[in-house]
Amino acid sequence: MKVLRNKKTLIDYIERQREMGKKIGFAPTMGALHLGHISLYEAAKKENDEVISSVFVNPTQFNNADDFEKYPQTLEDDLKLLENAGVDAVYVPKAIDIYPEGLKSKHYDFDGLDQEMEGKFRPGHFDGVGTVVEELLRQVQPHNAYFGEKDYQQLAIIKKMVKKTNLPVKIHGVPTLREQSGLALSSRNLRLDEKQRKEAVIIYETLLKAKEWFKSLSPKEIKERVENIFKASNFELEYFTITDEETLKETETFQEGKNYRAFIVAYAGDVRLIDNMHLE
Ligand code: PAF
Repeated sequence: MKVLRNKKTLIDYIERQREMGKKIGFAPTMGALHLGHISLYEAAKKENDEVISSVFVNPTQFNNADDFEKYPQTLEDDLKLLENAGVDAVYVPKAIDIYPEGLKSKHYDFDGLDQEMEGKFRPGHFDGVGTVVEELLRQVQPHNAYFGEKDYQQLAIIKKMVKKTNLPVKIHGVPTLREQSGLALSSRNLRLDEKQRKEAVIIYETLLKAKEWFKSLSPKEIKERVENIFKASNFELEYFTITDEETLKETETFQEGKNYRAFIVAYAGDVRLIDNMHLE
């Protein structure tokens, strides 16, 4: 596996792959890799000749400096995992390769997608994500790019950014991988103690209940029940919402022919966990 440590080596590498007519699949990450990331590479391998990943902890998408500083940095382990996963090359840029003019986000019009959910709690977060992903896509020039459905709003926002900027890449969502308990795999799980990790299954189990209640209750009734579950737990619910899957706007009624998704964000101590599930 090639480790490309700056923009120049990346650009040379991509040029060679393109000259050889290779179809490139790309899955960007912020490191602290786990099995959930491997599922991105597996999806990429099926549809491309060359699989490239990147490891870059993007400062502009953290609205909390403490969260940025505490973000796990495990590059040596990440490189081993990438190699074992059969990734062909990994781009590990420095901040200057992505932000030559300083750590500043661009401002995007995501047609309101960024005003919902995470957008309300993490001001500027999606501009940071849009900026880094746009720059990475411009440099890596993949035919296909892969993102986890665990960050469903991020996936929707990246699709919107790609559409608006006319970047010639197809964006794919990859289903969330879960531990046997149902807990969604996440780099942040590393920060949970044993007790929290066991109890964190409450998030998945509550989403399953919401899916069940979706058949007979209104969004408001489901929300009340979910809030009560969390009040009786050791987890602090930041928000629960059911949205139209397309617009990501909270729904007050369920209508025939529309798709809906439930989202939970909860804190275990100071660890913020997120998850979501399609309702049917
Ligand atoms: O999901 C992530 O790991 C990050 O938000 C991404 C897409 C790599 C951008 O920094």
